[in-house]
Amino acid sequence: SGTMAEERGFSMVTCTAPVNIAVIKYWGKRDNDLILPINSSLSVTLHQDQLKTTTTAAASRDFTEDRLWLNGEEADMGHPRLQACLREVRRLARKRRGGSAEDASPLNLSYKIHIATQNNFPTAAGLASSAAGYACLVAVLARLYGVEGELSEVARQGSGSACRSMLGGFVQWQRGERPDGRDSLAHQVAPETHWPELRVLILVVSGEKKPVGSTAGMQTSVDTSPLLKHRAEVVVPERLALMMRHIRERDFEGFGQLTMKDSNQFHATCLDTFPPIFYLNDLSRQIIALVHRFNAHHGRTKVAYTFDAGPNAVIFTLADTVAEFVEVVKRSFPPATNGDQFVRGLPIDSASLPEELVTAVVTEPVPGAVQYILHTKPGPGPQLLDDPNQHLLGTDGLPQRCT
Ligand code: DP6
Repeated sequence: SGTMAEERGFSMVTCTAPVNIAVIKYWGKRDNDLILPINSSLSVTLHQDQLKTTTTAAASRDFTEDRLWLNGEEADMGHPRLQACLREVRRLARKRRGGSAEDASPLNLSYKIHIATQNNFPTAAGLASSAAGYACLVAVLARLYGVEGELSEVARQGSGSACRSMLGGFVQWQRGERPDGRDSLAHQVAPETHWPELRVLILVVSGEKKPVGSTAGMQTSVDTSPLLKHRAEVVVPERLALMMRHIRERDFEGFGQLTMKDSNQFHATCLDTFPPIFYLNDLSRQIIALVHRFNAHHGRTKVAYTFDAGPNAVIFTLADTVAEFVEVVKRSFPPATNGDQFVRGLPIDSASLPEELVTAVVTEPVPGAVQYILHTKPGPGPQLLDDPNQHLLGTDGLPQRCT
């Protein structure tokens, strides 16, 4: 039954959604419109206490046009991928309501909508924001129109990686076989509670925007890289099976090594693209070398890196290694100015490093190279916010908080 507001022809919903980091990467589409990938992928959903998108959607019979605000700034609602998500959620709502568009349901599907969305992390930092953004959009629209069930198929049409942000924990996006994409869906492999010791450190190395976006970059790779073709056909199917086993067994060494290898192969396909694409920079490569020295010193894989379409490093490790590794990062890339904002997110104990570790692992310090470190862990999928104080839109349908 509808609330009073709904009876007046007004309804508002707010959701949050997480960022995810792929450990088996998605790179390449076989269908650009439906966003169907050439290979399956696997990711870890990150906790929304540290990284999240919040989106409010309101529908009203009094709104005269669809409107959108991104981080407080009005933006174009006509974006084809946004329109695709809107169209798909409405189609599901119609189907659910028995095929008729004009019906007596609480919310009329023809009402105009207002959407406001906000990230609690800097978009400029180059952290994947489209995955959380589209997952949040789809979650909020589904709720607004009373649609339940399989929604990763809709989020996929916003951004491929967004389908994996519809679930928490460890998530596989199955490439699917059908040309209509109905079987190209995300599934949870294990919930976030499965591996309580797993931690994630994001080393933000640059606020610069990436030179080549994922969408354009992967298209050029599909068109020109023989390595990408081999990867999709041969390497990824083997690695997926292996990665699932490492996760199931909570085998950090296996998980970490394969994560690093898959990141490296993704960047190798970028170099194999013609003209080549470079997402890693000198600092990314220094972090890679540091991780390998750290692991070599300990005689086993205790930390693992992965990089997406940008130079920021995402590090996986276990809780008992966080303090020592963060100290190593601080020694290697000392904060430029005020050091107290350098480590953010989950609390980290201080660690004193044994002299032989410093000698073996830490080389010439590069001050200011790492902007800050964000400490987080695996987390759940999209959440509904019940508290009306958390809506990003006022009852007039306009943004009420700009941060
Ligand atoms: C390197 O999902 O951003 O992060 O589907 O064109 O929107 P579109 O691309 P997007 O690509 C993500 C690529 C990646 C790897 C990954 O997340 O799997």
